[in-house]
Amino acid sequence: MRVVQLIYASRPFGFHDGALEDILAVARYRNGRDDITGTLICRHDLFMQLLEGPRAKVTATFARILRDDRHVEVALLWCGDAAARLFPDWSMRHDPVRSWMWSRAALAEGAVAGATAEECRQVFVRLSREPVASGRVSEAGRH
Ligand SMILES: Cc1cc2nc3c(=O)[nH]c(=O)nc-3n(C[C@H](O)[C@H](O)[C@H](O)COP(=O)(O)O)c2cc1C
Repeated sequence: MRVVQLIYASRPFGFHDGALEDILAVARYRNGRDDITGTLICRHDLFMQLLEGPRAKVTATFARILRDDRHVEVALLWCGDAAARLFPDWSMRHDPVRSWMWSRAALAEGAVAGATAEECRQVFVRLSREPVASGRVSEAGRH
């Protein structure tokens, strides 16, 4: 089934221990209900998220995310149709910034803002082929 994929980046605001767990808990609950899958790359100075699913649900979810005051400078990087999901088993996977993505210095110099839409999409394509960094064991169904 064709889906829409949307990628944005933003800067965490007021980040604290537990903030990520709060975000993931709500995201996984709502996304499970809305047939949305994806992954959230997170570091203290970067959020980068791919949402995929039915167009109307992805659009509505992104509208809520845009209003969220736990991050600022939300920049839409890519939105387009895809033949298949990249993260079919994840209502929201979570990954740290990997060493092959961007260095701290490159991020500080605006590497994400300077990346093309295709480069951003390729980050998630590559990530989807790699095991989860936390080593979480798969269970039946979506996580
Ligand atoms: C970085 C980030 C990622 C988020 N990802 C999702 C998500 O994938 N799905 C979702 O429903 N909400 C996500 N949220 C939470 C939404 O912004 C919002 O708080 C939540 O959907 C509940 O919205 P409501 O209070 O208007 O009902 C995310 C928030 C942040 C800051």
